[in-house]
Amino acid sequence: MFRPGFVHRRLYVDEQIFHDELRYLYGRTWLYIGHESEVPQPNDFIARRVGGRPLILVHTQAGEIRVLFNRCPHRGAIVCRETHGNAKGFICGYHAWTFANDGHCSSVPLRQGYGADFNLHSVDLACPAKVDRYRGFIFAAFTSDVPSLTEHLGPAADLLDQWLDRGDRQPVVVRSGSMPFLVHANWKTIYDNAGDGYHPPFSHESMLTVFSRRYGDVDMNYYGSDFDKSPMYSKNLGNGHTFLDQRPEMHKLSAWKRQHVMPGYEAIEKALIDRLGETRALQLLDASTGSGMNLNIFPNLLIIGNQIQMPEPLAVNQTQLTWFSTTLDGAPDEINAVRMRMQEDFPSFGEVDDAGNFEACQQGMESVPEMEWIDIRRHINTARGGVDPQDGLWREPMSSDLHMRTYFQRWQELMNTGKSNSLAEENI
Ligand code: FES
Ligand SMILES: [Fe+2]
Repeated sequence: MFRPGFVHRRLYVDEQIFHDELRYLYGRTWLYIGHESEVPQPNDFIARRVGGRPLILVHTQAGEIRVLFNRCPHRGAIVCRETHGNAKGFICGYHAWTFANDGHCSSVPLRQGYGADFNLHSVDLACPAKVDRYRGFIFAAFTSDVPSLTEHLGPAADLLDQWLDRGDRQPVVVRSGSMPFLVHANWKTIYDNAGDGYHPPFSHESMLTVFSRRYGDVDMNYYGSDFDKSPMYSKNLGNGHTFLDQRPEMHKLSAWKRQHVMPGYEAIEKALIDRLGETRALQLLDASTGSGMNLNIFPNLLIIGNQIQMPEPLAVNQTQLTWFSTTLDGAPDEINAVRMRMQEDFPSFGEVDDAGNFEACQQGMESVPEMEWIDIRRHINTARGGVDPQDGLWREPMSSDLHMRTYFQRWQELMNTGKSNSLAEENI
C-alpha cells in the first residue's frame, strides 16, 4: 500500500482499513478531546464523538475535569444525548440507570433484582485508560500503552506555547462558537490538506483575487509568486506531527496592516488607538491577527490561524470537520471582535474551496480502481530539505508533501503495531 512517494487509494476507500484505523490508530494514540475552557464551571459538560467513541468531557461537582465513555454499562445505550449543558449527573433513557457526573453509578431501579451482593461501583461509566492536559488542551488515550503526553507532543508543545503566548498571553477561550462541516470524504483527505502548502493560490484563487483587487498587497498575496523561494516552510515535528509556518511572510512587517479589510476594521483600529495610543494598539492588533501557524498534531488536532479544527471520522467516506473559534479572556472587546471577524472569514470563503476538493478527491479515488496511486512526491528528491539549525528538525519548502510523508509514516507504525498486538492476543 506504500511505495516511495506514493500511497494506495485503498487507504481512503476501503471499509476494512477504516475500521482498522478506528481500532488500531485512534485506539492506540493520544487524541485531542476538547479544551478546558469549554467546561468552565462545575457540572458543565460537553458530549462529543472522538476517534469514533462517544465521550463526555465534564467538569465534575468536585471540580475535576474528567473524560467518560458515553456508553451505558447496562445494554450499551448512549447515556447523555445532549451536546452540552450543566448537570450533576446523567440518567440513561432506557432503564434509568443513573450516574453522578464523575461517572459513579448512583442508582439502578429495582436493584434487588441483581441480588444482594450487587455493587453499584461495578457499573460506573468507564473512562479512557489515560487522560492528560497540556496548557488547557485535554487529551485522552484508550490504551495505557502510550508514551507520556509530553513525549507524544515533542516539539509540537513548543509551537503550542508560541501560539498561546502571543500578545499579552491572556488565556485562550474556546467558547465563542464553532462551525461544523459534514464532508463526504475520508478523514485523511482533510488531514492531507492541513499541511498542504501547495494548493492555496490555485484552490483559493477566486478568494485571493477578490482580496488583491479590492485591498492590494494583503494577507496571502505572497502566494502570487514562486512561494517555494519564500522563507515560509514545512517542518517534520516527529510522531506524525507537522508544522507549516507562514509567519515569515504574514508577520513580516505588521500583520494587522497586511490583513485584508473586515467589517469594523477602521472603527476598531481607531477606538483602540484613541484609548491606548498607536504603538500599543498596533501591538495588540498584530498579535490578534491570524497566527500564521498551521500546527498539525496527529491525528485529530489542527491549529490553523487562531482556530482549532477537529476532523472526526464518521465513515470511510464521511467526516465531520469542526472549526472552533477562540477568544482571549480579559482582552479588550475590540480585540476579541477582531478575532471573531477574522475567524468567520476563512471558514466561510476558503473552507468551501477545500471541502469541494476533499469530495472531488474521494469521488475520483472511489470511482477509478484502475488508477491505484496517490502522488506525495513533491520535494522528495529536489535536495531542498535540510535541518533547521535552531531546533534540529527537518524542514522543506512550503509546497512540499513532507506533511503527508511524515504522518503516513506514523500511520504505518501505529497500524502495524496495533495489528500485530491484536494477532498476538488472538493467538494466546
Ligand atoms: S441501557 Fe442504560 S439503563 Fe439500560
Ligand atoms: Fe485550503
